[in-house]
Amino acid sequence: MRRDFLPQDHPMLRQHAEPVTAFDTPELHALVQDMFDTQFAGNGVGLAAPQIGVPLRVIVFAYNGGDRAPGAPPIPPTALINPVLIPDPGPIQEDWEGCFSVPGRREQVPRWHAVSYQAQDLQGRPVSGRAEGFHARILQHEVDHLDGTLFIDRLSHGEPAPCPTPAQPED
Ligand code: NI
Repeated sequence: MRRDFLPQDHPMLRQHAEPVTAFDTPELHALVQDMFDTQFAGNGVGLAAPQIGVPLRVIVFAYNGGDRAPGAPPIPPTALINPVLIPDPGPIQEDWEGCFSVPGRREQVPRWHAVSYQAQDLQGRPVSGRAEGFHARILQHEVDHLDGTLFIDRLSHGEPAPCPTPAQPED
């Protein structure tokens, strides 16, 4: 079921979300399904639970190719519970981001090119991996939401840069 987004000024978007401690529950499965439904309904590439008013450390993401990130490989629909990111030593890259929680705005945001992650799945089993490029960017954007950080907090420049694509929310 598609859920509504909290408004940009809602205090929950600025709070530290709580770890999930109960796994494989009907409530957790329903939350993740609602998050995917909401992400896909908005043509997004990712979503964090606090954006729909649930202050838990849950993120989802998926990318099926297309013009949002030309050349980036598709990412299957993935839910990560209690994710932790470890940046790879290496370059920081700027690229365009938008956010369901910051409607109508897109900016160049600096992110680590690659990150390793550790998390749990819906059953509480440990999962880990490494992501690069657009995949790593989505992970950093969504985990930021769990710590009360929005992409507009990470801008390295003072003036909004010209936007090369029509404004649309995506995460
Ligand atoms: Ni976002």
